[in-house]
Amino acid sequence: MIETENKKKVFIETYGCQMNFSDSEIIGSILMEHNYISTDDMKSADLILMNTCSIRDNAEQRVRNRLQELHALKKRKSSLVIGLLGCMAERLKEKLLEEEKHIDLIVGPDGYRSLPALLEQVESGQKAVNTLLSAEETYADITPVRLGSNGVNAFISIMRGCENFCAYCVVPYTRGKERSRNPKTIIEEAASLFDQGYREVTLLGQNVNSYQWEDNGLPIEFPALLEDVAKVNPLLRVRFATSHPKDLSDDLLDVIATYPNICHAIHLPVQSGSNEILKKMNRSYTREWYLDRVAAIKKHLPDCAISTDIIAGFCSETEDDHKDTLSMMEIVGYDYAFMFKYSERPNTIAAKKYSDDVSEEDKSRRLDEIISMQQKLSLASNKKDIGKVFEVLVEGVSKRSDTQLYGRNSQNKVVVFPRSSHKPGDYVRVLVEDCTPATLRGVEVK
Ligand code: SAH
Ligand code: SF4
Ligand code: F3S
Repeated sequence: MIETENKKKVFIETYGCQMNFSDSEIIGSILMEHNYISTDDMKSADLILMNTCSIRDNAEQRVRNRLQELHALKKRKSSLVIGLLGCMAERLKEKLLEEEKHIDLIVGPDGYRSLPALLEQVESGQKAVNTLLSAEETYADITPVRLGSNGVNAFISIMRGCENFCAYCVVPYTRGKERSRNPKTIIEEAASLFDQGYREVTLLGQNVNSYQWEDNGLPIEFPALLEDVAKVNPLLRVRFATSHPKDLSDDLLDVIATYPNICHAIHLPVQSGSNEILKKMNRSYTREWYLDRVAAIKKHLPDCAISTDIIAGFCSETEDDHKDTLSMMEIVGYDYAFMFKYSERPNTIAAKKYSDDVSEEDKSRRLDEIISMQQKLSLASNKKDIGKVFEVLVEGVSKRSDTQLYGRNSQNKVVVFPRSSHKPGDYVRVLVEDCTPATLRGVEVK
């Protein structure tokens, strides 16, 4: 039996990208080793940690609003410890202690090993801060605790940081230098997840295509790593994100085509369809290069889904630039997209060099046009799937109806079908009969 009586309860709230969710599992693991247990009930927690995101201003505002609520909670329970972790901690550092007086602890993405010591410092009545970035930390030896997991899908962080310095982006400043994790520990983690019943892993990095490790003088790059993870078990699905278009190689596409358990879904953020804007964004590819990579994907993997990220209204974007983005979307025929209004981030290249000169009105309208275009493309993509049979990995009972199960196909599309005796983690063949822009509906076939 696990002794829980003397343990303190920690509630971890995560904002932002999958990397942050993966980090929260590392944070959880470090704390579980140091007399904490995790709780889902914020009000009963002794320690509340917010793992934050700085990617856009509204991501930070959400955290600021939440801090107001926590302030009220702390007024009623003075022993409550509040910590702010992640990218916002790294961006704002000690300044946050002045601005948000009820925060006790500030820790950046590379400082989580110091959490137990910092918490002791807080207990002795001091505030504690660690926002040092590291060139080596990968938390390779820490086995993450799977927080809020469905027992089917898990994230594996394979690298940290980013040095691409896209002009709009805060990540190189909040996450520091790019570094890759020892492949041995990645494969061990995948194998252990499979043994625990997990059936899908997503390998995470800001730019997985630049994964780089040396083993006895021999370089190991991303295609080789992906292959090794795929070999863990044919029943373990493997996904990865994110691929930077500048170095998506044919070698990688060959590996994906060779292993049926590597999913046919590539997230290839385009950001803009205009060469002028791509150059200003410092993305280091052109529209033509990007389309060449898309053609390579379609040639190697004809049924591969392609998804993307798009920013509307970057500095100096004209109507013609915006039209280039819409035409790009149509030519590629994206299956899915994350779409954002440009949000200037302090101290980035764009903030220093360019003026944030597209009006709020134009940004909103352009974003609406991009969203409408994607709705149309997603529906068209899903309609093409009607009549096809997919292997679906069951994730659970549909949230909308308990008579339906849901899961995903290799292309990462959500598929809903009538409930049967199948459990999460089972593979089921489903014939698609109907769709919406967001979901495929079907029936099980043998
Ligand atoms: N490493 C990934 C992206 C990580 S951030 C890549 O290079 O593609 C996720 C997405 O947030 C980005 O792709 C971009 O579309 C968006 N984003 C980043 N900074 C932004 C900003 N300042 N304003 C609006 N969107 C931004
Ligand atoms: Fe940001 Fe560019 Fe790095 Fe992605 S590749 S995290 S957009 S700097
Ligand atoms: Fe992720 Fe947000 Fe940081 S997107 S890397 S948590 S700024």
